[in-house]
Amino acid sequence: MAEFLTGLKRTKMCGEYTSADIGRKVTAMGFVAKYRNLGSIQFVDLRDRTGILQICFSESDYPEVFAKSTAVRNEYVLAVTGTVRARGEKNVNPNIPTGEIELLADGLRIISEADTPPFAVSDLANVGENLRLKYRYLDLRRPSLQKILMTRAKIVETTFNYMSAHGFLNIETPFLGKSTPEGARDYLVPSRVHPGSFYALPQSPQLYKQLLMISGFDKYFQIVKCFRDEDLRANRQPEFTQIDIEMSYVDSARDVMYAAEGLIREIFKQTVGLKLPRHFRQLKYKDAMERFGSDKPDTRFGLELNDVTKLVRNCGFPVFDAAASKRGMSVRGINAKGLASLTRKEIDAYQDVVREYGAKGLAYIALKPEGVSSPIRKFFDEDRFDALVKAMGGETGDILFFVADKDKKVFDALGALRLAIAKKHGLIDESVFDVLWVTEFPLYEYDEEEKRLVAMHHPFTSPMNEDLKYIDKKPLKVRAKAYDLVINGQEAGGGSVRIHSREIQRKMFEKIGLSEKDITERFGFFVEAFGYGVPPHGGLAFGLDRLVMLLTGTDNIKDVIAFPKNQAAMGLMENCPSEVEKSQLDELGITVAGEEKK
Ligand code: AMO
Ligand code: AMP
Repeated sequence: MAEFLTGLKRTKMCGEYTSADIGRKVTAMGFVAKYRNLGSIQFVDLRDRTGILQICFSESDYPEVFAKSTAVRNEYVLAVTGTVRARGEKNVNPNIPTGEIELLADGLRIISEADTPPFAVSDLANVGENLRLKYRYLDLRRPSLQKILMTRAKIVETTFNYMSAHGFLNIETPFLGKSTPEGARDYLVPSRVHPGSFYALPQSPQLYKQLLMISGFDKYFQIVKCFRDEDLRANRQPEFTQIDIEMSYVDSARDVMYAAEGLIREIFKQTVGLKLPRHFRQLKYKDAMERFGSDKPDTRFGLELNDVTKLVRNCGFPVFDAAASKRGMSVRGINAKGLASLTRKEIDAYQDVVREYGAKGLAYIALKPEGVSSPIRKFFDEDRFDALVKAMGGETGDILFFVADKDKKVFDALGALRLAIAKKHGLIDESVFDVLWVTEFPLYEYDEEEKRLVAMHHPFTSPMNEDLKYIDKKPLKVRAKAYDLVINGQEAGGGSVRIHSREIQRKMFEKIGLSEKDITERFGFFVEAFGYGVPPHGGLAFGLDRLVMLLTGTDNIKDVIAFPKNQAAMGLMENCPSEVEKSQLDELGITVAGEEKK
C-alpha cells in the first residue's frame, strides 16, 4: 500500500547534500536507482534530478526500518528520515558529489511502489530507441537526459533575461494562421465553423514578426514552436522551437548579426562557461561553397576543395573533358593528406558517399611511396599529370580525390566526402566550438523540378543594394542580405534584412512566379501593410533544439526534446497521429479519401 507524506517535508534535494550536512537530521525523497542487500545492511541509491544520495538501512541500528527496506525495488518512490554521516573510507565514491556521505535511515515511507520497468533506468543500459520512446517518462529519468533538459531550460532563461535586458519585447503570435511560403510543408488544422477551410500551423512567425515591426514594436523576440511537415533527419523534428528575433531601423545585415552575437555569447557563457570572441568569423557563401563544398561548413579541419577545371581541359579523360568544357560544370578535388594507403574497399566506400549526392564517380590518384596508383593516370601526359598533382598540393603519401559534374553536384559530393573522411580518420577536434557566419547568400536559386526561380531564404529577404541592378536580367547573380549562423558544421540559425519597399516586395513575388492573384490571395494583407509606413527591419531565428544539441554534445535531436516524434513523425508513447471518430470528421465536414464507398 502506498503511504502518504503526511507531515513530512523534504529537507533538500538528493544531489545537494555535502559533508557540511554530517550530523544533521534530515528527510530525503526520490526514486530508487539501485539497491544492494548485504545481509544485515541494505544500501539504496536515491535519485532525483540533482543527483544521487546513498541511504544506509542497518539492521543493528534500526531493525524495523531495515526489515521494511527489504521490500524496496527499483523505481519505488521513497521518503527517508535519518542522520547524515560520513561514509567509511572504503566506501567513498569520488565520482559523485555526494560520494563522501550517506544517510543512516531511522524511518522509511514507501510513497509509491513501481512495476518492474521495461528497461533499466540507466545511462549504461543498451535499449532500443522505440522502447525508450514508448516509455519516454521513464527514459527521461536517466541522468543524462535530465541534464540536457536542464541545460535547455538554462538557455531559455538566459534568452529571456538577455533579450529583455536589451529592449526586445516578448510578443506571442498565433499558431492558427495562414500558410506561408517557406519551402517546407504546412500542417493543416480544419475549421469546424468553416467546413472545408483550414488554418495552417506556422512554419515560423515570419509574417507576424514583420507586421509587428510595421506596428511599431521596434524590437521583438519569442521562443516559439514551429511546425514543418518535412522528411525528418537526425537534426530535424516536425515541431521544433525557434528563438525568433526581429528589429527595426537596421541598415545592414551586420546590425542584426552583431545583436545576435551578444545573445549567443551569453548563452555559451551561461551554459558551458566559454567565452566566444566579440565578433564571429564571416565567410561569404561563395567562398564557403568553393572551399568547403557547403553553405554550413565545418571548418574545424582542412581537406579544402581545389578547382582544377582549367587544368584538366582537354586532358584526354573524357569525363573530365566533358565537364571542363561546359558552363556550370567543373572538376574539383580534395587532397586527403597522408591517406594514400587507403584500401580498395575504403575507396569504394567513399565512392558510395559521393554517389549518394548524385556524383557519377570518384576519380583518385594515390601517391604511394612505391608509385602512383590511379585509374585515371593513363589519360594524362607527364607534364599535365605533374601539374595536376602540384595544383592539389599532392606529396608522396597523399591521395587525391576528384569529382566532375554540375557545380552543385560537385560541391555537394565533395562537401560530403570531406566530412566522411574527417569523421572516419578522426580529423575533427571535438573540443572546440567552430562558430561562424555565412553571408551574402544568393537571393534566388533555380528549382530544377519546378523549372522556376525560388527564394533561397524566403521571399521577404532584401537583395543587396549593389546587386539590385541585376534583378531583371541576371537574377541568379543577385546576392541577399541574408546570413546563417553555423556551429560545428550545423545550421544553428539564419535570417535576413527584409524588403521594406512595396515595389521591391512585389517584384520579388513576381520573380518567383507568383501572379497578382496569388499575391492578393495569399499575402494581400501583408503587401497592403507595406502601404502604411514600414521601418527598415531585419531579424533571424535560432534553432533552439540545435543549440541545445551543440551545447550538450548530442547528435540526436530527440535527446533535447522532452516528448519527441520518431523518424516517421509519430509519437510512440501516446500513439499519434491516430484515426478519429467518424462523428468528429463529420462535424468538420471531412471525408477520408477511399472511405466514402465503405
Ligand atoms: P529557418 O527556416 O532557417 O528560418 O529556420 C531557423 C532555424 O530553425 C532551425 N530549424 C529546425 N530545427 C529543428 N527541426 C527542424 N525541422 C528545423 N527547421 C529549421 C534551424 C534554422 O537555422 N523565418 C526564418 C528566420 C528569419 O528569417 O528570421 C526561418 O524560419 O536551426
Ligand atoms: P571509367 O573509365 O568510367 O571506369 O572511370 C575511371 C574513374 O573515373 C573511376 O574511378 C570512376 O569512379 C571515375 N569517374 C567516373 N565518373 C566520374 C565523375 N563524374 N567524376 C569523377 N570521377 C569519375
